[in-house]
Amino acid sequence: MEGEPRAYPALPAIIQGGMGVGVSNWTLARAVASLGQLGVVSCTVVDTVFVRRLQDGDPGGHMRRAMAAFPIPGVAERVMQQFFRPEGRPPGTPYKQLPMYQHIVDKGREQLAILAAFVEVHLAKEGHDGPVGVNLLTKVQLPNLALLYGAMLAGVDFVLMGAGIPREIPKVLDAFAEQRMVAVRLEVEDRQADTPEMFSLDPRVHWEGTPPPLKRPKFLPIISSHSLATMLVRKADGRVDGFVVEGPTAGGHNAPPRGELKLNERGEPVYGERDEADFSKIAELGLPFWIAGGTGTPEGLAQARALGAQGIQVGTLFAYCDESGITSELKRSVLAAVVEGKADVKTDALASPTGFPFKVVQWADDPATKVNRKRVCDLGYLRVAYAMPNGRVGYRCPSEPEAEFVAKGGAIEETVGRKCLCNALLSTIGQPQERKDGPSEPPLVTSGDELVRLGRFLEGRSSYTAADALAWLLSPVATTPAS
Ligand SMILES: Cc1cc2nc3c(=O)[nH]c(=O)nc-3n(C[C@H](O)[C@H](O)[C@H](O)COP(=O)(O)O)c2cc1C
Repeated sequence: MEGEPRAYPALPAIIQGGMGVGVSNWTLARAVASLGQLGVVSCTVVDTVFVRRLQDGDPGGHMRRAMAAFPIPGVAERVMQQFFRPEGRPPGTPYKQLPMYQHIVDKGREQLAILAAFVEVHLAKEGHDGPVGVNLLTKVQLPNLALLYGAMLAGVDFVLMGAGIPREIPKVLDAFAEQRMVAVRLEVEDRQADTPEMFSLDPRVHWEGTPPPLKRPKFLPIISSHSLATMLVRKADGRVDGFVVEGPTAGGHNAPPRGELKLNERGEPVYGERDEADFSKIAELGLPFWIAGGTGTPEGLAQARALGAQGIQVGTLFAYCDESGITSELKRSVLAAVVEGKADVKTDALASPTGFPFKVVQWADDPATKVNRKRVCDLGYLRVAYAMPNGRVGYRCPSEPEAEFVAKGGAIEETVGRKCLCNALLSTIGQPQERKDGPSEPPLVTSGDELVRLGRFLEGRSSYTAADALAWLLSPVATTPAS
């Protein structure tokens, strides 16, 4: 039946995509969810975003309001003492950093990550009963258990994870719903031995008595191929509830092309027919799915439904609305360039330390073009674990200074063109680290290829709300799309 969800009427037609770092924050997700569509908070790096908000004085008191609802005793008070600055930071003062997450983590650091995810989801759910989801990158392995647990403590309805194969996540959600300990495999590079390294989270160590069971959220892996969808249905450790099928035009990280990597004259990965997901095969799996990547238009929604999808996941259109975390200056500057036809989106094969292609917006007024970006790894979310010669686990990131990366056994080729996305993306949401030896960290803006066509929706406006975006996406389509 065209124009209507086929078999899952209770599910939303539109997912506002998770956008890290802090772009899809609680304000955006709440705006979307309160209108009945799926609002998704990004919890990638959310623990650092959270302690930086506290250090900036927590304008509006939202962090403190949500912290007061956190159910594990004593944690919020300790975090307030460590990070809250009622007057904010004096100009030029660097943010106090969190210790980098490790696979063996102390209780306090784990609790801080649980609290940060709780706060973000709690606020996104405040004042309405629409659905709220959480987005995490599978590759950022270490804090994910704590973040999932915190999101579940706040009653999150959906978990969406891409950038890797989230095969073990269903069992994590099942375990946390019963307040059970869960252990997952840690990917360790250069490891010779067969025994896998594991890391774990045990909810019971954080409570005195027996904590009450939690709701098990629906799990939607973000995938780019039907073969991965089939594999996850058959081989994931537990139940998968549907899929987001994301193509290579989407904002943020993209799945690399299949086969040998070929670059075009702009240095972008070349995608071909083999990279196109077969939606009929995905529909045959009998689970709801949403199509992402260039689908954020009324026609995109109609076409997705004609292909058997429940709806669409949209990023770029929401990234520039008033509620998103990108600073107003950057939003204004990029949208002005879009209207003038002077914004460009490049699929950068090198920028991300993950090695996945990453979309980068290029425009004349990009403040980052005026500053030299330094090689650094002081936040550590994109580090990978590797086996040190003594057999212990160490961590390295291809965006750290070359000599340090190579001293840890990393290959020099891997460092070429890499940027510290952790720091750059925090700057994009107005939380740049101050550097004693130079200017503060420059921003980096990511968007999907559709950005350059946003003028059609803007119709002369220089700003808009999430509600404007939703009303447009749900508006009638003039002609019936071909299926
Ligand atoms: C600013 C921005 C940041 C993004 N960050 C993430 C992310 O952290 N995790 C993720 O799974 N997808 C991320 N995405 C992808 C979106 O969730 C969504 O799937 C995608 O943007 C859809 O394509 P569209 O941009 O053409 O609408 C991001 C997209 C944008 C625009």
